[in-house]
Amino acid sequence: MEKVIDETLQGQTLVKDNKIGNSKKLYIESYGCAMNFSDSEIVASILNNQGYNTTNELIEADLVLVNTCSIRDKAEQTVRKRLEKFNAVKKDNPSMKVGVLGCMAERLKHKFLEEEKIVDLVVGPDAYKDLPNLLEEVENGRDAINVILSKEETYGDISPVRLQSNGVSAFVSITRGCDNMCTFCVVPFTRGRERSRDPQSILDEVNDLWEKGFKEITLLGQNVDSYLWYGGGLKKDFKKASEMQKATAVYFADLLDMVAKAQPRMRIRFSTSNPQDMTLDVIEVMAKHHNICNYIHLPVQSGSDRILKKMNRLHTREDYFELIDNIRKIIPDCGISQDMITGFPSETEEDHRDTLSLMRYVKYDFGYMFAYSERPGTLGAKKFQDDVPESVKKKRLQDIIDLQQLHSKYRTEQHLGKIEEVLIEKESKKSNLEWSGRNTQNTTVVFPKEHYKVGDYVLVEMKECTSATLKGKAVGYSPMQTSSS
Ligand code: SAH
Ligand code: F3S
Repeated sequence: MEKVIDETLQGQTLVKDNKIGNSKKLYIESYGCAMNFSDSEIVASILNNQGYNTTNELIEADLVLVNTCSIRDKAEQTVRKRLEKFNAVKKDNPSMKVGVLGCMAERLKHKFLEEEKIVDLVVGPDAYKDLPNLLEEVENGRDAINVILSKEETYGDISPVRLQSNGVSAFVSITRGCDNMCTFCVVPFTRGRERSRDPQSILDEVNDLWEKGFKEITLLGQNVDSYLWYGGGLKKDFKKASEMQKATAVYFADLLDMVAKAQPRMRIRFSTSNPQDMTLDVIEVMAKHHNICNYIHLPVQSGSDRILKKMNRLHTREDYFELIDNIRKIIPDCGISQDMITGFPSETEEDHRDTLSLMRYVKYDFGYMFAYSERPGTLGAKKFQDDVPESVKKKRLQDIIDLQQLHSKYRTEQHLGKIEEVLIEKESKKSNLEWSGRNTQNTTVVFPKEHYKVGDYVLVEMKECTSATLKGKAVGYSPMQTSSS
C-alpha cells in the first residue's frame, strides 16, 4: 500500500476544507503507506472540531504533527530528520507543540518523551479520538501519550478532511490492523489486530465523495481480502449461530459489489491484496463491473518456497502461479504489481534465482522492491540472523529492479495503438499543456489538454511509451463520462 503514494505527495500538506472561525493552525506531514495519509485526514477532521485549521506553512503552526512509518529503518530515519527540523523551528517559537503519530509512536512509545525529549505528544494509530484530551494535557504543560491499541476502532464515524487532494481521487479505509504476522513485518505490532469497518459507513463515505465531485476511490486495508463484517439480521430468525453468520456476513467481494453498484460512474480501486486471502469471487466481481479497475497489487515478497515459508507467507510459488493464471483467465488485461524483498535471512543465490524466475512468469506491470531491513520485535528479528551481507542484498535488489524495468516496458508497449479510458487527475508534471491520468491498469497516461478538464473520463489513443508512462491523444469522452452503467 505504501507505494500508492506519489513521491511528490510525501511530506507537506495542502490546505483543504478549513473551517471558518477556527483560530489555531495545524501543520501535518505524513510518511509511509496510504493508510497513514488516510489517517492524517481523520486526524485533521478531529482537530478541525477543536479549533484547528490546516496550514502548509510550518512557521505559523501552533501544532505540528508527523504521521510516521516504521516499515524499514530508513523510513524511521527520515522522520527523525524531520523531528530535528521541527525542534529547530520550535526554538524560535516556543509555544509551538510537536507530536508524533502512527507506527513510530506505537513502536517507541514513552521513549520519545523520556529519552529523546523531542516531542510533546505521542499518539498511536488507534488513539486519535483521544487527541482533544491529550492536547489539553499538553496545554497544561504535561507530556501526553496514548498508544493503546484497540480491537474495535475503525474511525467509521469520522468524516475525513481531504488533504493533498486533487478533488478526483480519494482513499477510503475499510480495514485496520493486520493478523497475518509475516515474520519480516512490523505492522501487526504497530497497528494491532485486524478489524473491518461497517459497510454502511463505507457506502456513506463513497456516496458523499461522489456528491463532492470525486471520481475514483481506493479502498484501503493492509489485507483487503480478509475484510469481513457480520451485521444485520436478528438472532431469533436463525436456528444456529453459524447460519446467522453466513446469512449476514459481508465479505470483500460483497463489499466491492455493493460499492461498485452504489456509484456506477465512480472508479473503484483497492489495495493491498494478499495472495493467500484473495478469492476467485473478488476477481469475478471485478470482471462484472466496468467501474472496478483492472488492477491488482499482489505482493509476493519472494519466489522461493523456502523463503516464503520462513516469511510465514501462507502460500507456495505454485499457488501464486495458479492465482495469476486465474486472474489472467477471468480478466485478460489485468494490471498486476508486486512487492519484493531481497536478502531475507538465509536467502541463497538459488532462492534469488527463484524470485527472478517467478518475475519472468508473471511479467508484472510495476514493482516495489526493497532490501530486507530487520525490524526490532518482529518474529524475523527474534528467530533469524540477519545474515545476508548488505552488499549482496543491494546487488540482488538491483537485479530485480533491472528485470522489473524490462517487464514494465514490455507491459506499457502492449497498450500502444489501443484506445483506452483515462480519468484525468492533474496537469502533467512535465508540461502545462498536457493532462496526466491513469488507465484502468494504473499506468500513467499523458496527453494534450485540448478542451478536456480534470475529472473527465476520456478515451485516449496510445502512441508512445516509456517503461512507466504512456503518451497519447484524446479521441473523445468515454461512456463513463455520462452513462449510468
Ligand atoms: N500488507 C501491507 C504491507 C505493508 S508493508 C500493504 O498494505 O501493502 C509494504 C511492503 O514493504 C511489504 O509488502 C514488503 O514488501 C515491504 N516490507 C515490509 N517489511 C519490510 C522489512 N522489514 N524489510 C524490507 N521490506 C519490508
Ligand atoms: Fe505486514 Fe504481512 Fe500484514 S506484510 S501488513 S504482516 S500481510
